[in-house]
Amino acid sequence: MDETTRSVRELYEAFPYPSGTPNLRVGFDVRYLLSLGTLPRPAAATIEVLDAGCGRALGLIGAAATQSDVRFTGVDMNRVALDEARAEASRRGLENIRFLEGDLARLEAVTGLDPPPGGYDVVHSSGVVHHMPDPVHGLAELARVLAPHGVCALMVYGHREPIRRVARILTSLAPAELPLERRLELGRTLIESLCEEDPECAAWRVARDCDEVEFVDRYLHPCERAYDVDELFELVERANLSFLRWAEPNLWEPDVLTRANFNDLLSRDRYRIAESVNRPGKLELYLARPGNSLCPPPDVTSVDGLTFAVHPEATFIVERRSLRGAGRLEAVSVRLRDEEPDSLPPGPLATAAVLFAATIEPFRGVDLVELLVSEGYERAVAQASILELLQREMIYALPLDVGSGSLP
Ligand SMILES: C[S@@+](CC[C@H](N)C(=O)[O-])C[C@H]1O[C@@H](n2cnc3c(N)ncnc32)[C@H](O)[C@@H]1O
Repeated sequence: MDETTRSVRELYEAFPYPSGTPNLRVGFDVRYLLSLGTLPRPAAATIEVLDAGCGRALGLIGAAATQSDVRFTGVDMNRVALDEARAEASRRGLENIRFLEGDLARLEAVTGLDPPPGGYDVVHSSGVVHHMPDPVHGLAELARVLAPHGVCALMVYGHREPIRRVARILTSLAPAELPLERRLELGRTLIESLCEEDPECAAWRVARDCDEVEFVDRYLHPCERAYDVDELFELVERANLSFLRWAEPNLWEPDVLTRANFNDLLSRDRYRIAESVNRPGKLELYLARPGNSLCPPPDVTSVDGLTFAVHPEATFIVERRSLRGAGRLEAVSVRLRDEEPDSLPPGPLATAAVLFAATIEPFRGVDLVELLVSEGYERAVAQASILELLQREMIYALPLDVGSGSLP
């Protein structure tokens, strides 16, 4: 292990990331990720997932707890975090998850890691590759163990100017040669005085209010780089991966582009503009091996025969009032990720949303169509609604090998 990686390990072993209590995080629904690519996976084989740099594995444990038929492997070089993750998984009685210690830059040397013969179905890596001394090599290692049909969910830092501003000051004030505890102490003291001097400054306030684990990770890191759109695409290409889509597409298609009728711009130009408008601090995207590509939406004639699931990032809010025993539906809305809720006027989408608020199992398109027809909508309207539900990310079409369910 090189000197830089060793100092990254030292930081995370002293302050295992992330802090907090394990809970269920959204965005890590394995079947949703597999639904993004066009290439089918081999039938019957157990779905295998690698979380590269899982840390204390809050997201991974949440994923394993809800997807008991999927096998999860978390790899990290941080023994302290892995011990905690193992203890938490065993406390929850999870048998579909294991943790291995090792350097992601040398996956072949990680004891016990026996990638499935065809590769992992999903490789998840959040907040890790940008802390490796050679991120291209790190990501290429992940690409190497990804199945041809597999999907890689990646998060790397975008340019986080307020954070960089504080980090630059702390690097001069508390240089990396000092012990980490001392740097933390100096950093905290400086931030307190900056806040006293200028209580309105968001950069100082955010730094003051974050816990120690976040503070060290953000401001005292020995190895970190950030990416703009062009640098990100260069990283992806050099690692022999191809772009499927952003995890948060709305962030990359700001309204200003649509309103100003800039629809002819090439996607990379649109992303550059979106980056300048929205300044995303995290770049979250889904990748695949060359040869796999983004699955196009189905057409209206095929929706009856497909199986769907409620989108893992959609929350349905159904407001009801009880009036002397008679329930009345007041309002229905949907919130995607952490965006503002969108209210749904009475109609097929709102009817479906009421149902989705209580739907756990996948369901067949034909069953939803029948249900909407029984509510008085025309068949063609019901089928077109399914396309709109897909487009608005309220549901997604499951890959074919996953089987069919039914509506309650
Ligand atoms: C910011 S934390 C992210 C943890 C987790 N992915 C999450 O989102 O909560 C980065 C993690 O990557 C691990 N890491 C960084 N470089 C690594 C390497 N070369 N090999 C293995 N783990 C590494 C660190 O030990 C740390 O646990």
